[in-house]
Amino acid sequence: MFDFHKNHRNLVVTALVVFTTLSLGIAVLPAFQMQDYEPLPDQVGFTANEAEGLRVYVAENCMACHTQQVRNIAMDEVWGDRPSLPSDYYYSKKRMDVWRQSPSLLGSERTGPDLTNIGKRQPGKEWHLLHLYNPRTVVKASIMPSYPWMFEEVDSVLVKDNDVIVPVPDSYLDKKSNKVIATTEALQLVAYLQSLKQTPMPDASSIGFIPALKKEEQSDGGGASSAELDGESLYMQTCAACHQQNGQGLKGAFPPLAGSSVVMDTDYDFMVKIILQGYDARSEYGQMPGFAEQLSDAEISAIVNHERSSWGNNAAPTTESDIKRVRDFVMQLNQ
Ligand code: HEC
Ligand code: HEC
Repeated sequence: MFDFHKNHRNLVVTALVVFTTLSLGIAVLPAFQMQDYEPLPDQVGFTANEAEGLRVYVAENCMACHTQQVRNIAMDEVWGDRPSLPSDYYYSKKRMDVWRQSPSLLGSERTGPDLTNIGKRQPGKEWHLLHLYNPRTVVKASIMPSYPWMFEEVDSVLVKDNDVIVPVPDSYLDKKSNKVIATTEALQLVAYLQSLKQTPMPDASSIGFIPALKKEEQSDGGGASSAELDGESLYMQTCAACHQQNGQGLKGAFPPLAGSSVVMDTDYDFMVKIILQGYDARSEYGQMPGFAEQLSDAEISAIVNHERSSWGNNAAPTTESDIKRVRDFVMQLNQ
């Protein structure tokens, strides 16, 4: 049809279109998507030292073998406590510099294991230094390259007080009396590796940060009806920690409520059930605890109405008795 063997222009144009489409689909668009991810609420940022370590990681091209992406498939389950988020490897939403977007560390291979939780799997600094100096010192059959230029082998008399000595076995040294000293880059890189610990997703077991859940018992809302309760401030106390003040959620952890079809459905039963019983249906999100014990029908109604009428959402309000009907139904099912 395209006459590739006669018309070279068709050949070149087709190759160009395929190349551009694949580059956009596989590299450019995912990079932009990843840049959008928010760190989890409990995540701590890098120290300056660890951030420098990330630069060394990039400079040495470690991601060529250690692509930073745990997928949600059985084969990858060993690497982390959960599928990884971009913020597991790189905390900030800022670019690394003008040229490099972040997180920008998707490699093309999985020759080496994913390092998402390496700070927990291999916490020891000495292990990491030895492994970088020569992986075979700690993992006999390793095919990972050595990084000797991040270390200096010096005569023991030249070792200074604050030098970090790597306990390299004699057989790897040029001269038995020599010592191997880690350079600043090696120490920074190891600090970065040690900082790679997955932050747990907030779930039912770690909900201390949600004020409303600290209440012992369900309040009666002071007898107020849903129209008198302030749905927005109840939302802020109960739901915003996860779904965020602007209803946008956090990618990879909590779904957005703005624009959610569940929130805007004319049939609100499913949404109310989620609020009463909690929800853990999809693997790309964490777990939502149930609020049946903590929130009264009037409070739930006020929150639901706030969500159905904010951030561009536009759906009919509910009343306290609507919520009571769903609650009674759910209670019946559980009996
Ligand atoms: C040629 C591919 C390759 C490159 C490049 C590479 N690695 Fe590795 N890496 C491996 C393989 C294979 C293993 C598994 C064997 C082992 O533990 O040595 C590994 C293991 C590791 C481990 C231990 C993982 C675990 O779960 O115990 C760490 C940490 C590590 N690499 C860090 C790095 C760093 C930092 C760099 C860049 C300076 C790097 N690697 C470059 C292939 C590579
Ligand atoms: C501890 C974090 C957390 C809190 C607090 C929380 N949620 Fe959720 N919520 C989630 C997670 C995670 C999901 C998605 C669960 C899944 O799909 O597996 C979710 C899903 C939902 C959904 C379904 C949205 C959709 O489009 O699928 C609604 C509606 C919802 N939550 C409302 C609320 C309301 C209202 C509150 C406050 C009373 C609240 N949530 C508090 C974590 C939370």
